[in-house]
Amino acid sequence: MKSIIDDMTILSSSESDRKALRLAVGEMLDAILSSFSDDKAYSGIDPDLLRSAITELPVLPETGSGWEDMMDSVRKDILPHMLRTWSTSYMPHLHSPVLVETIAAELMIAAFNSSMDSWDQGPAATEIEVRVVNELLSIFGYPEEADGTFTSGGSQSNISAMIIHRDRFLQNMGYDPKKNGLPEDFHKLRLYVSEISHFSFDKGAHILGLGYDSVVKLPVDEFCRIDTEKAERIIMADKADGLLPFMIAATVGTTDFGSIDDLRALRDIADRHGLFLHADAAYGSGAMLSSYSDRVSSLPLADSITVDFHKMFLIPISASALLVRDGSELDAFQLHADYLNREEDEEDGYINLVGKSMQTTRRFDALKVYMAFRMRGRSGYRKIIDRMIGNAAYFYSRISSNEEFIAPVKPELSSVVFALRGGDERNRKARRALMKEGIIIGQTVYMDQVMLKFTLLNPLLDEKRIDELIGRISAL
Ligand SMILES: Cc1ncc(COP(=O)(O)O)c(C=O)c1O
Repeated sequence: MKSIIDDMTILSSSESDRKALRLAVGEMLDAILSSFSDDKAYSGIDPDLLRSAITELPVLPETGSGWEDMMDSVRKDILPHMLRTWSTSYMPHLHSPVLVETIAAELMIAAFNSSMDSWDQGPAATEIEVRVVNELLSIFGYPEEADGTFTSGGSQSNISAMIIHRDRFLQNMGYDPKKNGLPEDFHKLRLYVSEISHFSFDKGAHILGLGYDSVVKLPVDEFCRIDTEKAERIIMADKADGLLPFMIAATVGTTDFGSIDDLRALRDIADRHGLFLHADAAYGSGAMLSSYSDRVSSLPLADSITVDFHKMFLIPISASALLVRDGSELDAFQLHADYLNREEDEEDGYINLVGKSMQTTRRFDALKVYMAFRMRGRSGYRKIIDRMIGNAAYFYSRISSNEEFIAPVKPELSSVVFALRGGDERNRKARRALMKEGIIIGQTVYMDQVMLKFTLLNPLLDEKRIDELIGRISAL
């Protein structure tokens, strides 16, 4: 059957296009809502079966099959097997359900398709991003000269931090890396991270041409935090060997354990040895808005901070920011193009954000943060994030007093790593068996042992549901 949407090309202000958009969005919304049949995280289908069904689907036929047929396929082939992040049976990753108002924000982002590179591609979008960044700088206790930029995620924020600190470090040595590339002894540059830091630092080292060997992994203590005494000894030994340490990247919320490195001690070490200090708070930054903010209150000590909104802040992918204490470091990304960000326009007050970012065309993700922050306020977020951290404390207290389980590290945020006693195979099998029931939990390794993981970002989880899940795992 033909729909009026088939006659539509682009969204415009014409009456017929408005009608078509209302219909398209309405039908999609109905399709989404009718796919919410139960609280399972996913249908439980085997990957082989799903793959073979999807392999059969036509993608680009010579003649398009039209809106109705395409939507039938979305309803039948895709929606039933979508992962439902809001399910209280889903807790493997730092992958969150999303706040309702941010889904409405996504619609606005797509409808206007603003781009953040130049003011003339997003006047209100540019001004709102600047406003939101300024608010973030104040939340994270940064001074007047600080600045920041939205990015596609924690990985890009971390890699951007590596670029700006490497550049400033080399500039301080009288070298111009923007013009000349890497100096002759570039292979001596060293970046220090926790041995359980996120892999984006290794990826960044490769992309920057420094190589994996430039990333020194610092040992952690029994709480999964960088052992700062050993860290300083390693940095001193590297300096004595003629290497060039330029940056420490602390993790404020490690991916598996949510452990928080000691920023105060690392700040002192960085100052003593002339290094930049970056805080990868992709995960832990959310705690700043909770009643547990004292756990992350030393974040302002870092020279730069990665903040991911698509983790604890419950904002749809993608939304992240890099905040920089000395905003001029973002000049690493500044270039002028005649077609895009003319200096004369900037002198006249047109802000072109392209000069602060590794991206050119960039989404208006700041809108989602603006809408959620404005609507919920500090108290709304406090309630949500307190629930996540409280749930983790509850789960930990239950399993650490249960003989069937081992839980080696007390949670500081909302993740708990644990295992069933009885060996690796038993834990692997338990996770797979739960998956068949539509319950998805995490799996990782701690001290060479296979462990299970609950990442509790869902504010719908409560003590009753947590007890049920413990019961299911015990029963397996
Ligand atoms: C501590 C930490 N840093 C960085 C990242 C990367 O973030 P993204 O996936 O948004 O690139 C993650 C992802 O889980 C993380 O846990």
